Amino acid sequence: MKFDLIRPVILAGVLGATACGGSGSGGDSLSSASSSALSSSTSSASSSSLSSSSASSWAVSEEHLYDNASFPVGVAVSAGNESYSLLEESGQGQKRRDAVIAHFSNMTPGNIMKMSYLHPEENTYTFADADALVQFAADHGKTLHGHTLVWHSDYQVPGWMKNYSGDWQAMLSEHVTNIVGHFASGEVVTSWDVVNEAFAEDGSYRSADSVFYQNMGESYLEVAFRAARNADPAADLYYNDYNLAQGGAKLNAVIAMAEDFMARGVPIDGIGFQGHIQIDWPAASVMEQSFAQAAATGLKVRLTELDIPINNPYSASYSYPDNYHAELTQALADRQKRRYCEVVTAYLNGVPEAQRGGITVWGIEDPSSWLISQLFANKHDDWPLLFDKNLNPKPALQGVADALNGQACE
Ligand code: G3I
Repeated sequence: MKFDLIRPVILAGVLGATACGGSGSGGDSLSSASSSALSSSTSSASSSSLSSSSASSWAVSEEHLYDNASFPVGVAVSAGNESYSLLEESGQGQKRRDAVIAHFSNMTPGNIMKMSYLHPEENTYTFADADALVQFAADHGKTLHGHTLVWHSDYQVPGWMKNYSGDWQAMLSEHVTNIVGHFASGEVVTSWDVVNEAFAEDGSYRSADSVFYQNMGESYLEVAFRAARNADPAADLYYNDYNLAQGGAKLNAVIAMAEDFMARGVPIDGIGFQGHIQIDWPAASVMEQSFAQAAATGLKVRLTELDIPINNPYSASYSYPDNYHAELTQALADRQKRRYCEVVTAYLNGVPEAQRGGITVWGIEDPSSWLISQLFANKHDDWPLLFDKNLNPKPALQGVADALNGQACE
């Protein structure tokens, strides 16, 4: 299936800019070859498709992204009182809903099912926002991936839990049981990130900044997975982490943990690779190897939290463009399209069909991305997702569709 791409229109003001390498902890510099390729394709775009406004469509399609996959094709959504809420009646809410209904079979709540949202006090659970999202999913035949039952992140661990002085094993087990149990009968929440980001880069357990490790040692993972399975035997249970796709000590440690679980009968169904990656890093071949390494366990593998910014947010200086209110050019959008295609192809090549747990893009429209507000700190624009600020599908969406259709990435 081919989407009918309409060439975007490009502001003359940004056409002269070229990408130059930015490096940092998150990735390599753009090579000089890729920099020059970018500049030359930018100039060619400038001569062929110069037009007046960036408000018109990048692409128009009647197709459904999810039709092209035998596994869940998901997107992270905001809801409740969050900005960019999928369920808001005003603003762009309807456009977001249209985008989700058309292209995705699965959603991950980006925030509203985290610990502090669902369990703000020891004896208080607040399910209303999540229930509204579940209802939307049910109304439109979508499933939800629950995110996340246990996460060390300071902002997301409720205050009462940080200060808990009772029996941690009983407390954590009850937390997981009550949350998973609440959603278990609805058949909408079909999978969970049970534990998120438990490992440090060197493959040791995250300790200094994890109240769970400090109070329970590594046993907290097992307690959480066992409680989740008991509360919903039908749901797929995932361990989810970042910086796995490049392979190495952290991936090895996650796989060792999963194999230990399997050997001891601790329930686990899959490994989630957070796809917070760069446009030039890691190499697709490396990602494919990493996916295959995880799939060799026999577990399911998900490509979760996928976003591919144009600029490397960890870089000291941003590559392109250098003014905040710039627009994404055709050349950069095309490069991002190819990268999305290559990454999804790496997933498909690395993971046998029966073990594909799904892919999830981390947000709907570009401005809603956590990268903008948190890593770029609202000081620099970027376009990491599949839809632009007006909810028009971008070439990146075509890149995912091409990969799902088994087409060559271009
Ligand atoms: O909703 C409030 C708003 O009312 C308030 O005015 C504003 C001011 O700070 O904050 C808003 O809440 C923000 C929330 O996102 C909702 O958008 C929080 O500050 C902000 O910290 C929170 O960030 C989320 C972050 O996780 C921390 O929980 C991001 O949206 C979310 O995309 C991000 O996702 C994580 C994954 O869960 C795990 N892997 C890494 C990934 C990126 O950090």
